[in-house]
Amino acid sequence: MAKNKERPHRDFLQIPDFSAKELDKLFALADSMKRGRYKKKPLAGKSLAMIFMKSSTRTRVSFEVGAWQLGGHALFLSPRDVQLGRGEPIADTARVLSRYVDGIMIRTFAHGDVEELALNASVPVINGLTDLLHPCQVLADLLTVRQHLGGHRKKRFAWIGDGNNMANSWINAAYVLGFELTLACPAGYDPDPYILARAQKKAKVRVVRDPAEAASGAHVVNTDVWASMGQEEEQAIREKAFRGFIVDEKMMKRAKRDAIFLHCLPAHRGEEVAANVIEGSQSRVWDQAENRLHIQKAIMAVLMGGEKL
Ligand code: CP
Ligand code: NVA
Repeated sequence: MAKNKERPHRDFLQIPDFSAKELDKLFALADSMKRGRYKKKPLAGKSLAMIFMKSSTRTRVSFEVGAWQLGGHALFLSPRDVQLGRGEPIADTARVLSRYVDGIMIRTFAHGDVEELALNASVPVINGLTDLLHPCQVLADLLTVRQHLGGHRKKRFAWIGDGNNMANSWINAAYVLGFELTLACPAGYDPDPYILARAQKKAKVRVVRDPAEAASGAHVVNTDVWASMGQEEEQAIREKAFRGFIVDEKMMKRAKRDAIFLHCLPAHRGEEVAANVIEGSQSRVWDQAENRLHIQKAIMAVLMGGEKL
């Protein structure tokens, strides 16, 4: 996790900011929070600034409610309301917010903007989604896997769809935790080459073109929208490119019999996922959404509240 003498706090910008050992402890902490066994208020008297340059339901509500449940308070800052939206530099925003709050969560477009914010902030920065990564979501997904399948070890994961922020974060998770991950992406929609190459040195991570190949024998089948936030104008062209990539009952039948289906949401039924799969018995999407709250509380308790891993 990013830590040095000048910046004694830790940030969470990408999954490799935690070691595998730390992730295990983070999942255990989140689990104890979910079970109601964690009674501490490590954020008492503390505030989290939440910058949202893109829309959100889950991230906004889970961070705000989570901060409150830990004894703290969260501020929702949209570009309509803050000067960042009128061009105030990120570095200035970082330095000013650091004088008021104890942590900053940001959802934005360019990943470099989050890195710049972190570089200039003197409080922990948490990545709430960029075009490149969505690390909080994938930790929530792994918590879901832990709760339903007993953990990620010896499990095979399938990603079917765009090589987007979610796919890149799954690759980062495989890199840190060492599980097997097969991604099926149409040509031209591959994951980030640097992130992929780094993971392939440590874990069995493959990119294939055939979604059925990725789904075969998987314990976890994962997908996401074909056009992410900011790509709305590419919807029609992407619908063509992703033809055959829908996770339907036939695709789920290729996976293990007790495989689970995950989707970070929001979902487009009839596009990347069939309605009877997302509503079906193998779907864990609502637990997955709930787990955003628990894992982010664990992250905030560690980064902002002095909780040790
Ligand atoms: N999955 C997720 O991040 O959802 P929101 O866009 O609603 O925050
Ligand atoms: N890939 C999606 C994830 C939404 C939570 C997006 O970036 O829009």
